Amino acid sequence: MHTDTRLLIETLIASITTPLEEARGLPPQAYLSEEFYQLELEYLFRRDWICVGREEEVPQTGDYFTIELAEEPLLIVRDREQNLHALSNVCRHRYMQVVDGRGNAARLTCPYHGWSYQLDGALAGATNMTESRILDKANCRLPEFKLETWLGFIFVNLDTNAAPLAPRLQKLKQLLAPYHIDKMRISSMYDEIWEGNWKLTMENNAEAHHHRTLHPDTLQPWMPGDDSHCGEDEIDWGLLRTPLMMDLVRDEAPIYANLMQRWSADIDPQDREETLTYVLYPSSTIDASPGIVFWKRILPLSIKRTRVMMGALVAEEELNDELSHYNKEFFDVLNPEDYQATWRLQKTIQSRFAEAGPLSVKEACLFYFQRYLGRRLKDTV
Ligand code: FES
Ligand SMILES: [Fe+2]
Repeated sequence: MHTDTRLLIETLIASITTPLEEARGLPPQAYLSEEFYQLELEYLFRRDWICVGREEEVPQTGDYFTIELAEEPLLIVRDREQNLHALSNVCRHRYMQVVDGRGNAARLTCPYHGWSYQLDGALAGATNMTESRILDKANCRLPEFKLETWLGFIFVNLDTNAAPLAPRLQKLKQLLAPYHIDKMRISSMYDEIWEGNWKLTMENNAEAHHHRTLHPDTLQPWMPGDDSHCGEDEIDWGLLRTPLMMDLVRDEAPIYANLMQRWSADIDPQDREETLTYVLYPSSTIDASPGIVFWKRILPLSIKRTRVMMGALVAEEELNDELSHYNKEFFDVLNPEDYQATWRLQKTIQSRFAEAGPLSVKEACLFYFQRYLGRRLKDTV
């Protein structure tokens, strides 16, 4: 291991015991080192549970979508028994991607030479292969990975020995119970590739301290970041609370204010006028407000390219075109403002004079995230 990488990991490990008042941001190498990026893929994205989607993205038999996780092409598909599978999307014949994008199919058919697979990944048919003595049709299948659903989210783990996810998130499940996320459905989705290291997007989502400066006319009036505060450090997630200026939301966005009012009854009064952002390590966030939840999946495609997916979730009975359109406009206005915090930073971090600066108490969740990285990577040095 390169000395710089070792020093970086030692810094992350040290963060576990460093007090918050002495916290610094991640060193430049965390966003620039290819060796460190490969360790992240190996120790985070190939061993931890990664949120890849929602169950309602694949509601019917044969529905599928594809995703790249840690350089692995995957497909998520629902079979005839309504079970979900996370399968390798690489044909067992000659490596073609079996399916592309999203869709519905009775069988998964490779576009190269037409081998086909059942919805559970078992080989169904192989063209022009009768003479082959080595094709073992009964045992030929697309490799399958661990999959769990939690509050309607689909999580995948590429590590076949991984411990189950649900026990780890039991406490969080109780905290989120009043929001009924398991019964929510996607109202609008955003799916783009952002230039910049994946951690820049995670960090941007984990603090509201930038609202006054990056979102002066959009988020800041409704959600003043200076009044945000972070919860306690937890092993699997961090919590950021940002107040909602409900009088203003009622005036400027009655569609959200009415939704919030309709779904506040089960929510603790002290949480009704706040957005609770749960930063779920390593790569998703859940912004929970009464009646509406914004959720993000952040998946690295390379050291400086990231697939950023967001969904606005509401109760099924609240789904309508007006709300979908409103959410989409919200994404279209806000996301370019946040995008600066990835593509601009990815360039300036390369400066020979760049070094990690001190973190504000409003950025505690960024430091908790560093501690997570330290815990995950501590066995590499
Ligand atoms: S590569 Fe898939 S059928 Fe040939
Ligand atoms: Fe932002």
